[in-house]
Amino acid sequence: MTVVLSLSVLGRSGQLARALWRNEGLDAECLGRPEVDVADLASVRRALELRAGAIVANAAAYTAVDRAEAEPEAADRVNRLGAANAAQVAAEAESPIIHFSTDYVFDGAKAGAYREQDPVAPLSVYGTTKEAGERAVRENNPRHAIIRTAWLYSHEGDNFVASMLRLGRERAELRIVADQFGSPTYVEDLADAVAIIAHDLLRTGDRHRYGTFHYCGGGVVSRFEFAEAIFAEAARHGYRPPVLTPITTAEYPTPARRPANSALDCTRIAEAYGIRQRPWRDSLAECVARMLPQGRGGRSS
Ligand SMILES: NC(=O)c1ccc[n+]([C@@H]2O[C@H](COP(=O)([O-])OP(=O)(O)OC[C@H]3O[C@@H](n4cnc5c(N)ncnc54)[C@H](OP(=O)(O)O)[C@@H]3O)[C@@H](O)[C@H]2O)c1
Repeated sequence: MTVVLSLSVLGRSGQLARALWRNEGLDAECLGRPEVDVADLASVRRALELRAGAIVANAAAYTAVDRAEAEPEAADRVNRLGAANAAQVAAEAESPIIHFSTDYVFDGAKAGAYREQDPVAPLSVYGTTKEAGERAVRENNPRHAIIRTAWLYSHEGDNFVASMLRLGRERAELRIVADQFGSPTYVEDLADAVAIIAHDLLRTGDRHRYGTFHYCGGGVVSRFEFAEAIFAEAARHGYRPPVLTPITTAEYPTPARRPANSALDCTRIAEAYGIRQRPWRDSLAECVARMLPQGRGGRSS
């Protein structure tokens, strides 16, 4: 793969931006706060200074799903206005934008996996602002690839895998929700997908490849099954797992409602770009191995 010299990534310190920065197929320039606030159009314009043929990747987002219920304006500012600004500045330079959205735009009531054209019906402020961000990107830049992903995790930063391993060190027993289903997505796999899309868009500029796409790890699991797998992988690195108890969503009330089923059908991205999902368990094994070098996984107490 030839190197993309000008992928301008917004949201510098987030887990996805950092994976784009690491990706060997990309030469990403990462921009973020404090210099660039995506909600401030002038700062986005100043920062991007796009060269012809550049691609913008907007990985900046307000991702605190529960906190957003109490801070809807703050979430809207980043997830809708920030997305609009990024898309507009890219459009002014006639550049494509790759923007990221979420499975939480759906209400989770569908029996099977969600297709891109299924009706959106977010249950939370976070989902509502992300859905508004999708519309803003479509309205401001016809050259867009909006990628909805799900249950994103990395070997660094704060995410479900990191939380499980931390809590498992602190407590002998963990209660995990067993009636929410989705597809864990390793951020390195998503970055690989972005690299394929960026190269393709630069090479072909094919308008048929613009639009909204789903991309997540291959397979569907409950939060409980995901936690079981995290600890099974960790145990291979000398970590002493806690006892896990399955509970219902009703037993673990949170400020934000989450979809019970957020399985995403990823056929469209496979057809447009040839991008295949990686089995979620293979990616998890790689992630945990990076987090827990052999023999360093034990409970601290
Ligand atoms: N995490 C998930 O489970 C998940 C699931 C589905 C979809 N997604 C989507 O995937 C994308 C990447 O998520 P992620 O997990 O990498 O998020 P993340 O780790 O929370 O990073 C988000 C980044 O956005 C930056 N940011 C927030 N407000 C900003 C502003 N006003 N101006 C500039 N930068 C700002 C943050 O900067 P600071 O460091 O300065 O706060 C942070 O670096 C997002 O679009 C998210 O909605 C995530």
